[in-house]
Amino acid sequence: MAIRLILLGPPGVGKGTQAKKIAEAYGVPHISTGDMLREAVRKGTPLGREAKAIMDRGDLVPDRVVIGIVSDRMAGEDCRRGWILDGFPRTVEQADALGAMLTNLGGGVQYVVSFQMEEAGLVRRLSGRRSCESCRAAFHLFFNPPKQEGICDACGGRLVQRDDDREETVRERLSVYRRKTEPLIAYYQGRGLLRIVDAGARIEEVFPKVCEIIEGQSPGGVGTAHDHPEITGGD
Ligand code: AP5
Repeated sequence: MAIRLILLGPPGVGKGTQAKKIAEAYGVPHISTGDMLREAVRKGTPLGREAKAIMDRGDLVPDRVVIGIVSDRMAGEDCRRGWILDGFPRTVEQADALGAMLTNLGGGVQYVVSFQMEEAGLVRRLSGRRSCESCRAAFHLFFNPPKQEGICDACGGRLVQRDDDREETVRERLSVYRRKTEPLIAYYQGRGLLRIVDAGARIEEVFPKVCEIIEGQSPGGVGTAHDHPEITGGD
């Protein structure tokens, strides 16, 4: 089955967590612009140097930069059998560019899964998030704790907090999401691609809901965020 999925949603809603599970279950690449940018920052490449200050203050990296890296990645051989986009597109300009990219590559988006939950829950998830500095495995101090405090279950590496998970940066990321990314909910709803998932449930409960959408067994919610204030925080 060719999976071509966009995971859309605010910071901390669980896009990366679910994307990894879907990628493993269906054998398609997980393309995370956040992960690619953090890798560039770690390596100190010109892209990383340009992106670091922007990411640290919770703003978006310029569209032309992100569109360039996604375009290169999606031309990869492994993307022929499908992909999961996590954190891209994030602006209408990026969504338009993705549409043009996919027309050139000969394919389209299968579904846009919009993960939604109330804002207080997002802040809780982000403040407790830890990831392994070696293998990047993700944990949460309360919801998904490692067996041994501060140590990765998978590789024994050290667990660290992301620089942009500090409280003031989180507030800015949420504000940027509302202004620049939330309009994509209406954008994709208008194209008949949007499926809404209540991401406030446990990780193991959210995953089957996404699988049902992928396999066409569930239509998911198809309304807008404003039709579902109970799962968006009603902002
Ligand atoms: P990016 O890395 O994409 O960050 P984000 O979108 O803000 O999303 P997060 O990674 O914070 O959250 P998530 O939804 O993946 O949640 P997760 O699964 O980790 O982007 C970072 C920055 O890069 C941006 O601010 C921007 O500067 C730049 N950037 C990236 N893409 C860009 C683009 N396209 N254009 C311009 N700039 C771009 O889960 C969070 C925590 O909760 C984890 O600890 C997890 O274990 C836990 N958790 C997950 N699900 C559950 C659950 N169901 N129950 C309980 N806990 C859960």
